[in-house]
Amino acid sequence: MPLLIKNGRVITSTDDRAVDIYAEGETITRIEENIDPATLPEGTEVIDARNRYVFPGFIDPHVHIHLPFMGTNAIDDHASATKAALVGGTTSIIEMICPGPDDEPAAAYTEWKDLAEAGACCDWSFHLSVVRFDDLAEQQVRDLVANHGVRSFKIFLAYKGALDISDENLFQLMQLARELDIIITAHCENAEAIDAMQQKLIAEGKTGPEWHEPSRPRSVEVDGVNHLCTFAELTGARIYIVHTSCGAAVRRAMDARAAGVDVTVEAVIPHLVLDSSWPERPDFEGAKYVMSPPLRDPEEHDPLWEALAAGEMSTIGTDHAPFSFEGQKDMGREAFTKIPNGIPSIQERVDLVHTYGVCAGRIDLQTMVDVCSTQAARTFGMYPRKGEIAVGSDADLVVYDPAYESPFCEGDSLSQVDYCGYEGMERRGRPEVVTLRGQVVARDGKYVGPECGGRQVPRD
Ligand code: URP
Ligand code: ZN
Ligand code: ZN
Repeated sequence: MPLLIKNGRVITSTDDRAVDIYAEGETITRIEENIDPATLPEGTEVIDARNRYVFPGFIDPHVHIHLPFMGTNAIDDHASATKAALVGGTTSIIEMICPGPDDEPAAAYTEWKDLAEAGACCDWSFHLSVVRFDDLAEQQVRDLVANHGVRSFKIFLAYKGALDISDENLFQLMQLARELDIIITAHCENAEAIDAMQQKLIAEGKTGPEWHEPSRPRSVEVDGVNHLCTFAELTGARIYIVHTSCGAAVRRAMDARAAGVDVTVEAVIPHLVLDSSWPERPDFEGAKYVMSPPLRDPEEHDPLWEALAAGEMSTIGTDHAPFSFEGQKDMGREAFTKIPNGIPSIQERVDLVHTYGVCAGRIDLQTMVDVCSTQAARTFGMYPRKGEIAVGSDADLVVYDPAYESPFCEGDSLSQVDYCGYEGMERRGRPEVVTLRGQVVARDGKYVGPECGGRQVPRD
C-alpha cells in the first residue's frame, strides 16, 4: 500500500525540513513541500506527523543475537531482538557472526544466515568474526567475500582462548582485508593482560562484579587500540574500533588517524549513559552491568559525547548482548570472570541518544541521525539505500514524538532478557510509527509488522 507521511519535520544528517514524504512500493518516490492526499492512489496510508520528527530508519552496526559465549548462548532469537529493534526505531542491524576457534567460517556464515532468514523482522547484515585463519579458513573467507556478500570482518583482541586471534593470524587477515578492500571491525583490549589481572584478583578473593572493571582498566583498552592501529599502519587495512569506552582510547585512535591510518571509531550506548557504579550494585545485581570493555567512571561520558559531536567518533551502536540475570548472569556468582558479558540495549538506544544526547544539549538532531544511522550506512556500504531520506532510498522511516515521556522499564521490552539495563531512567521521546521499506511495522511501542519480514541488505 502506498504511504504518505505529512506535516512532519524531516531530519537527516544534513537537513531539517518541513516536507511530505511519499513512498510507493518499498522506496521513497517523492519528497515535496505539500503532497495532496486527494491526488494519490486510493488506499494510500496517510500518517499525520504534525509536531513529530521524521528520521531515516536507524541502523545498529553492532549487535549480537545468536551468540554462543562464556558457556551459554544469548537469550534473544532473531524474532525477539529484531522486533525490539524496530519498536525502538532501528530498521537495520549488523550482527556479529561469532564462531568458536574450531569452527569453519563457511559453516558459521550458513548457521547465522539461516537463523536470520528464519526469524529477522528488520533488515540485516553481518560482520564475520575470524577466529581461526589456517589455509582452509582463508579459502572459505575469500569465497564468502567473493560470492556471499561478506563486506566486513570482526576480530577480537580480547577473550583469551575463546575468541581472540593470534598476532600472526591478525597480520595475515589484515593483509587479506587490504587486498580485498574489506573493513576490519575490532574489539580492542589486551587479552593477556586481562587474563593475568583476572587471575590475580580472583586469587585475592575479589570475586564480585565490581572487580570486572579493575581487571580490564583503560590502559588495557588503549593498549589494544594501539596494537590494532600499529597493524593497520603496517598492512594498510581499514579499521573500525568497536565499543570504545574512554577518551584515552579515542585519542590514541585519533593519533593513528593523524598518522594516516584509515580508522573509524564506534561508541555504544551503555558507555554513554551508564557508569562504573552500576556493577557495584548490591546483591549481585551489578552482574547485569558487566560488559567489555567495562563501564567506566562517569567522567568518561563527556569526552565520548564530545568526540561524537566533533566527528572523531562516527557511530553509536548498542553491542546488544542479551543474557538474562536468572540462569545466565548468575553463573558468575562465585567469580566475576564467569558472568556472561553484555547489556541488552537494542530497543532503548535511539531514545537514550535523544534523551541524554539531544535533550541534554550534547549533540544536535543532525548529529543524532548521523551517528545512529547515516555513518553506519556509509561505512558499511549501505548508503544511500539506508541511512538517508531521499528519492530512491528504502522507505525506512521513524515518525518520532519528542514530547513523549515515560521511564524505561522491563515491561516495555520486547527482548527476552529478564531485565532492562536502563530500568527507571528518564526517557524523553519515542518512535510513534516505524516503517520498513514502506510498511508500518511498529506503532506506539508495539510491533505490528509481519513475522520474518526482514531482508539481507546488499552492500557495496
Ligand atoms: O560485553 C560484551 N561486549 N559482550 C559481547 C561480546 C563483545 O565483546 O562484543
Ligand atoms: Zn566486543
Ligand atoms: Zn560486541
